Amino acid sequence: MELPAALRAAVDRALEGVPLGELQRAADTLSSRYRAEVRDGRLHLSDEMFANAYLATRLPATFAAVRASFESVAELMPGFAPQSLLDVGAGPGTALWAAADCWQTLGSATMLEASPSIRKVGSELAVHSGVDVEWRAADAAKSFEVQKADLVTLAYVLDELSPAEGLSLVERLWAAASGLLVIVEPGTPAGWRRILGARARLIEVGAHLAAPCPHSQACPVAEPDWCHFSRRVARSRLHRLTKRAEVPWEDEKYIYLAVSRTPATNFAARVLAPARGGSGKIQLKLCQGDGSVEEKLLTKRDGGLFKAARRADWGDIL
Ligand SMILES: C[S@@+](CC[C@H](N)C(=O)[O-])C[C@H]1O[C@@H](n2cnc3c(N)ncnc32)[C@H](O)[C@@H]1O
Repeated sequence: MELPAALRAAVDRALEGVPLGELQRAADTLSSRYRAEVRDGRLHLSDEMFANAYLATRLPATFAAVRASFESVAELMPGFAPQSLLDVGAGPGTALWAAADCWQTLGSATMLEASPSIRKVGSELAVHSGVDVEWRAADAAKSFEVQKADLVTLAYVLDELSPAEGLSLVERLWAAASGLLVIVEPGTPAGWRRILGARARLIEVGAHLAAPCPHSQACPVAEPDWCHFSRRVARSRLHRLTKRAEVPWEDEKYIYLAVSRTPATNFAARVLAPARGGSGKIQLKLCQGDGSVEEKLLTKRDGGLFKAARRADWGDIL
C-alpha cells in the first residue's frame, strides 16, 4: 500500500533538507521506545526531530493499517457515509487521510493531539487533505469536550496510555460516535490484549461488533496465539535510508476493532492467517460466526467454497 499522492508529496516537502543522520538517530530512539512500550510520562513525539522521524518511518505503516481496517468495515457497512471525523492521538493526521481516502463523503474533522510538534506537522499536512480540519491540544487520558462525530478513531494510541486510562477513553469515544468507532493497535500480543479489553467493554455498553469478528462471543483465539493482520507497505527512498534498510517494502502487523450503532452485514468467517495449500487443496485458519476458530481443509470437492477460499487473503471474509 502507498500513501495517497497528495500526502506523499506533502510529506516529501516536509522532510526536504532534514539531515539524514539526525533522522536516523531519532528513528532509532523512537523505534526502541515503541518496541519496549515505554510509559515514562514523556510523549514519544516530544520534539520536531521525532515528529520528522515518525513521518519518515511510521506514517506509511500506520496509514496502511488504518486504511485496511476502514476498508474491511466499509465492505460490511456499504451504506455508511461519514461526514464528520473525531480522531484522538491524531499524530500527523493518519486517520484523517485514510478516512478521506476511504469515504469521499468526509467533510470535517476534529483532531485531538497532546504533542505540539506532531500537531504542527499534522496541521500543515492536513491543509492538502481537502477536508475542513480543526486541530486541538488535548490530553486523551483526561476528560475533554467534543461534539459527536459520525466516525471516531483511535489509532496506535492505547499502547501509550495505562490500561485504566485506555478503557475510560474507549467508553468516552464510543459515547462520541454517532456511527462507528474504529480502534487500531500494533499487531503484537500486547496490542491484541488491549483490543480484547476494549472489545469486552464495548460489548457491555451495547455496541455492535462490525469487524473483524464474525460474532460477539468470547474471542476463541488462545495465547500464545493472537489475532492480527498484515499489510505490505511500500518504503520510499528516504524511509529506506532512515531505517538503513535494503528492501523497498515492509510488512505492518496490526489489529483493529470496529463497532457500530447499527448492526453491520453478517458474515460466515474471517481468515486469520495466510492460506496454505498445494494443488487442489487449501487450508485456512478461520474465525467463524458460531464463535469458534478452526483450521479448515478445503478441496475441489467443496466447489464454490473452494474457489472462494483460493481467492481469500489473510484478513478477508468468507
Ligand atoms: C503512535 S502515535 C499514532 C498517531 C496516529 N494516530 C497514527 O496512527 O499514525 C500516538 C499519538 O498519540 C499521541 N498521544 C499519546 N498520548 C496522548 C494523550 N494522553 N493525549 C493525546 N494524545 C496522545 C502521541 O503524541 C502520538 O501523536
